[in-house]
Amino acid sequence: MSMNYRRCGRSGVLLPEISLGLWHNFGQPARHEECRSIIARAMELGICHFDLANNYGPPPGAAETRFGELMQSDFAAHRDEMFIATKAGHLMWNGPYGDWGSRKHLLASLDQSLRRMKLDYVDVFYSHRPDPDTPLEETMGALITAVKSGKALYAGLSKYPAHLFTRACAMLKEAGVPCLLHQLRYNLLDRACEPSQLPAVGEQHTGCIVFSPLAQGMLTGKYAGGVLPVGSRAADSTSPFLNADQVATQAERIATFQRIADEAGIPLTQLALRWLLRRPEITSVLIGARTVQQLEDCATATGQPPLPQDVLDALEQA
Ligand SMILES: NC(=O)c1ccc[n+]([C@@H]2O[C@H](COP(=O)([O-])OP(=O)(O)OC[C@H]3O[C@@H](n4cnc5c(N)ncnc54)[C@H](OP(=O)(O)O)[C@@H]3O)[C@@H](O)[C@H]2O)c1
Repeated sequence: MSMNYRRCGRSGVLLPEISLGLWHNFGQPARHEECRSIIARAMELGICHFDLANNYGPPPGAAETRFGELMQSDFAAHRDEMFIATKAGHLMWNGPYGDWGSRKHLLASLDQSLRRMKLDYVDVFYSHRPDPDTPLEETMGALITAVKSGKALYAGLSKYPAHLFTRACAMLKEAGVPCLLHQLRYNLLDRACEPSQLPAVGEQHTGCIVFSPLAQGMLTGKYAGGVLPVGSRAADSTSPFLNADQVATQAERIATFQRIADEAGIPLTQLALRWLLRRPEITSVLIGARTVQQLEDCATATGQPPLPQDVLDALEQA
């Protein structure tokens, strides 16, 4: 299997069809050796894009700290082969400057992220979410400063509604720092970005990277029959992000997708990722692997032919 790369909008950047996010599986509870193996195997597989944020952990900051340790011990010589992202905009530290979209928060947070990751610069720095109380000009101004200061090579946006994304793109372009890509949640169970956010990406000719492509594991078949496997995210009662109730709510739809996958002879995980890659606006799908095995499994989705029309139709009707 060899990794396919897609051009990120109209930029010079190519990203792998499968990218690796460090939201959950690189915090303090994770085993350091497993984390090292996942990054090393990702590089072997051509998965050279690593997505972080200031608050990834647990606790917040722990994923960047671990990534920094690994960069120093193992991957420093490969820095130019890697495309590394971080973000600011969710709660990171106490007080009025530890959250949202002010210039103060974004630029202080970027400096902290660089220190934790032991990097001179990141490849892309995102506004992690729009801030309804900060002028868009201020948040975009902070991204522009980040790029012009050399601390980030590109600017990115995450979870912006279409109208704000379009305005933000215009501001960034005007400053000579065009938006590289938009990061959006998209998977078979959550298609909320389809009506307006994805078309806006197409209109602005930026890249697009989609997160939680496996709905945090629900689209892998691991929760079949409503059982929560030991060690899974939904079985972790300390995780606020996926729980037994969410799995139970989606059980019927998951079973339908599983049946379609079985009939097509395609593993559900691969089907879910290939379904996302059908869209020309999408540059990369951003998975979160907890083990090397999961990473390898997800990587099989690259370089595959388009899904047959009857499978696409069945998924559409599901
Ligand atoms: N911009 C944003 O606001 C935002 C928000 C969320 C995420 N993100 C980014 O998107 C990345 C991915 O998000 P995500 O973790 O929700 O992605 P995901 O790929 O939908 O879910 C990851 C989880 O799915 C399971 N999994 C993955 N591959 C598997 C396989 N082959 N077989 C069985 N199970 C598998 C694992 O669950 P278990 O741990 O249960 O084994 C893994 O922890 C994050 O790391 C982050 O970088 C961004």
